[in-house]
Amino acid sequence: RQEKFQRIYELYNAAQKLYTHILLNTTAGEQALRYLLKERELDEETIKKYGLGFVPSNNVLLSYAREHDVDEPTMKAAELFLERDGELVRDRFNNRVVWPIKNERGQVVGFSGRSLDPDNPAKYMNSPESPFFNKGKLLYNLDLAKGPIRAGQPAMIFEGFMDVISAAMAGAEGAVATMGTALTEDHVRSLAKLTERIILVYDGDAAGQKAAKRSIPLIKTVAPKVEIGVIALADNRDPDEVRRELGLPALKQALEQSTQTPTEYLFNAAKLGKNLQNQAQYLDFLKEVWPILADASPVEQDYFLQKLAEEYGSSMEALRSEFEDYQRRHP
Ligand code: GTP
Ligand code: MN
Ligand code: MN
Ligand code: MN
Ligand code: MN
Repeated sequence: RQEKFQRIYELYNAAQKLYTHILLNTTAGEQALRYLLKERELDEETIKKYGLGFVPSNNVLLSYAREHDVDEPTMKAAELFLERDGELVRDRFNNRVVWPIKNERGQVVGFSGRSLDPDNPAKYMNSPESPFFNKGKLLYNLDLAKGPIRAGQPAMIFEGFMDVISAAMAGAEGAVATMGTALTEDHVRSLAKLTERIILVYDGDAAGQKAAKRSIPLIKTVAPKVEIGVIALADNRDPDEVRRELGLPALKQALEQSTQTPTEYLFNAAKLGKNLQNQAQYLDFLKEVWPILADASPVEQDYFLQKLAEEYGSSMEALRSEFEDYQRRHP
């Protein structure tokens, strides 16, 4: 069993090396390399650090594995090939740029592949769930982020691989990402073992806000000691787009200087899309604010009630009375 696992890890490792070699050194990888260097603004050093690769459409890994006498059960268990009628027929990630996904120990356990064809409906494709590849447990880049997090960098959770790489380029070495799945209890536990400070940096779009609203209570429940921070990016951008469109210093600044408390973040998010000079919309806003404040510390409650009074002209007495009324109805 141990040996069987060892052979599978060896195949993952060989696949990563082969796909990186194709990307960096062959004509089959030229277009993908140009994409990563020019459009994604990466350099060769970064490509090597994260082991990015390209999978050409000639089933290079399938040929490699057969030439090196890799046994059939190993090839099937690794999930790197597509099967038809029980026969291995081609490399799974054909025609995609691939990011190797590593476990906490730094062993490759699967890949995520991005299509270069903008018309492809499946932009990203992951290795299927397997004993090695469990999206609910794996955090992209945890192998590299673990040391810096232990040494005092905050753990920062991003949505995508490119966001992690961009963050690390900006000096945020505690960066990890979930892989197209929501944050799970297991993800939180593995970070809470390393640190008491977790910062959420989701995309600045509606989906990212929704994810933050869901992850905040999850972290509070699973790891009550952890101090949570949230970084909200403007204009629907994700961190990688901030780097490429506004520049690396702008991303660095955002990651170092714009952390909000969960209460601040949720309070500001409740404002979005509302005209608070409009009476009805202001009252809707207040309805969203009460549950947020109910979850906050007394000092924070005071701070935000005062802020409401100053900004929107309601009296402290009226605000306090409505908030207390909410609390009575939601003990
Ligand atoms: P880029 O265009 O490469 O920058 O990706 P993105 O920033 O648009 O990714 P997006 O914000 O849409 O998604 C964030 C993460 O979700 C990605 O890194 C993937 O892990 C995952 N994801 C996105 N699209 C897909 C998809 O079509 N299939 C799967 N399985 N995962 C996806
Ligand atoms: Mn997104
Ligand atoms: Mn994104
Ligand atoms: Mn997108
Ligand atoms: Mn992106």
